[in-house]
Amino acid sequence: MSISYQHKPVLLHETVKQLITRPTGVYIDATCGLGGHSIEIAKRLDPSASLYSFDLDPRALAFAKDRLSEYDNIYYIQHNFDKLRMALFAEGVEHFDGILYDLGVSSMEIDSAERGFSFMKDGPLDMRMGETELTAADIINTYSQDELTRIFQEYGEERFSGRIARVIVETRPYFKTLPLVDCIKSIIRGPYINKTLARIFQALRIEVNHELDAIKKSLSDALDMLNPGGRIVAISFHSLEDRIVKQFFQNAVTDCICPPEIPVCVCDHKAVAKKITRKPIIPDEDEIKKNPRSRSAKCRVIEKL
Ligand SMILES: C[S@@+](CC[C@H](N)C(=O)[O-])C[C@H]1O[C@@H](n2cnc3c(N)ncnc32)[C@H](O)[C@@H]1O
Repeated sequence: MSISYQHKPVLLHETVKQLITRPTGVYIDATCGLGGHSIEIAKRLDPSASLYSFDLDPRALAFAKDRLSEYDNIYYIQHNFDKLRMALFAEGVEHFDGILYDLGVSSMEIDSAERGFSFMKDGPLDMRMGETELTAADIINTYSQDELTRIFQEYGEERFSGRIARVIVETRPYFKTLPLVDCIKSIIRGPYINKTLARIFQALRIEVNHELDAIKKSLSDALDMLNPGGRIVAISFHSLEDRIVKQFFQNAVTDCICPPEIPVCVCDHKAVAKKITRKPIIPDEDEIKKNPRSRSAKCRVIEKL
């Protein structure tokens, strides 16, 4: 494949070091993207080990497959990672020794104007990572004002959600990114406009791809399928993702999860994992300088008991 993308995997060595506890084991890269982490995992595994690399984006997977062609123990799975259990069962895999999530979109997706993820480039309001139906244009043009307000609030944490939703509804339809950007710029002025645009685009992307539900479902299956001593390593890029990972991990490492007002435990919940990172691993200044996109990354790790 002749296309080349400048992609710098985030927290590469730290995450792969945390992930591999048994070099002859079975590993999952839940978000293969351009294969940056997969290649490093493959390098550190014994040839008898296997790596299953998931991505719902066929273009990313084709790129990674080509790039990693020298490894014959990597299996590529074009599926949403919320179908982890079903997709791995189909491959005859019931348990594994480690799984990595590098959440969000790849630089190939962000940088391709025709995918519609970037508010800096004109393209169709698409934002689908995989081969699903709903596009960002469908959301912008058919959701009610209340629904738009809710997704901008919940998935973008944008304080002017109501005002932005109202003006969009009054002036729609929108089919391309830059006219939508101009509409938002006509409402919100000042030095923080790019933050607002990033939040609105993030909200649309999350809604199009049902991203948060997919993370919850996949983490739960992953913990179930993990062998004792195996690890979940999760890199998140915004507070909504990080909150889901943090709460899920906290739940997994806690014995009783009864509300504090209940004096005697009635939940019978038992910890099934231990925390490997007390505080999230974050990129150092050098990494942020070389790869500004890494600046908001947080990596958390748990190990199954
Ligand atoms: C940040 S990129 C991963 C980059 C990769 N670690 C690398 O170094 O090249 C995230 C990738 O996960 C994919 N992705 C996001 N959500 C997904 C999901 N629910 N299921 C499967 N893949 C997903 C995206 O299509 C994207 O290619």
